Amino acid sequence: MTHIITLIPGDGIGQEVIPAARAVLETLNLPLQFREAKAGFGVFQTYGTALPDETLEQCATSDAILFGATSSPMTKVTGYYSPILALRQHFDLFANLRPVRADAIDVLTVRENTEGLYSGRERTEDDGQTAIAERVITARASERIMRVACEQAMRRRRYVTIVHKANVLKETDGLFRRVAFEVARDFPALTVDELLVDVAALKLVEDPARFDVIVTTNVFGDILSDVAAGLTGGLGLAASANIGGQPPALFEPVHGSAPDITGQGIADPRAAILSAAMMLDHLGYAAEAARLHQITYQTPHTGDTQYTVEAICARLESDSDA
Ligand code: NAI
Ligand code: MG
Repeated sequence: MTHIITLIPGDGIGQEVIPAARAVLETLNLPLQFREAKAGFGVFQTYGTALPDETLEQCATSDAILFGATSSPMTKVTGYYSPILALRQHFDLFANLRPVRADAIDVLTVRENTEGLYSGRERTEDDGQTAIAERVITARASERIMRVACEQAMRRRRYVTIVHKANVLKETDGLFRRVAFEVARDFPALTVDELLVDVAALKLVEDPARFDVIVTTNVFGDILSDVAAGLTGGLGLAASANIGGQPPALFEPVHGSAPDITGQGIADPRAAILSAAMMLDHLGYAAEAARLHQITYQTPHTGDTQYTVEAICARLESDSDA
């Protein structure tokens, strides 16, 4: 069976790291069929939309999406919205998986991707002098994110830490916490504990080896997973998956479009390649995913995108000859 992969390079170094990941995937000789699609600020400036309908249609008939990065202006540009947020919403990709690994550290952050403080419910009152964001937590979203976290932990060290701030956010995180512990009862083989988010941040820096799977709400997961990435080699190695109940799932490096280094051929392609490895694992190519993951981690990036890609491809090929 052929798997259809939609590649969305996007803006900036997305245009460099996604072709790099494609070259590596092609070396593996798997039954993958690639299609390219457009999204991002460049597309918006040309066509007036950041996420053309054809892109959405192509994604809808794909098994997986490999996404580079898009550029978002810091201030509001009429008609522009972030394609990655739109794709997550459109395909209900509610779970954001962000693994990091280095020496004794092996942490997977499972972040709720659809609600919380990023629910998009913002408004101003008082002639613009007061700004309000609503933090929406539902039992449904809390339940399904905890279930994903528990399923992931069953394939790992069987330990889940629920991170919240229920002592202050009594209603919203109170609900998240209660539902998460309820779901945990369905997984008696797991050890499940909890930490307040500020303590979790401290522990992540002081004693990262204590963690296996962290499950948390949207913003906390956004921030904590960046801290975890910072402890383990930075953005160059930070990969992620966005998963929903059905295909397509979306895989992307955590980094952005890096306009400061775009076009220089120096972008580290490994975060995109590790995202491709997560994609392979999700599509059922577990052995190939593990091998790609390992080789990518073992290959240093010395500052030349093409050189790093060739080194990874060469190792994949010599490995398969052995
Ligand atoms: P960024 O991740 O693009 O860059 C931060 C710093 O890390 C820069 O100095 C950059 O050169 C470096 N860097 C990032 N990826 C790298 C790589 N693969 N190899 C070597 N160096 C790398 O974040 P920044 O600067 O905050 O945002 C730039 C643009 O990217 C903005 O327009 C932002 O909205 C967008 N962005 C998009 C994301 C996405 O599409 N999911 C995520 C984060 C930011
Ligand atoms: Mg982020």
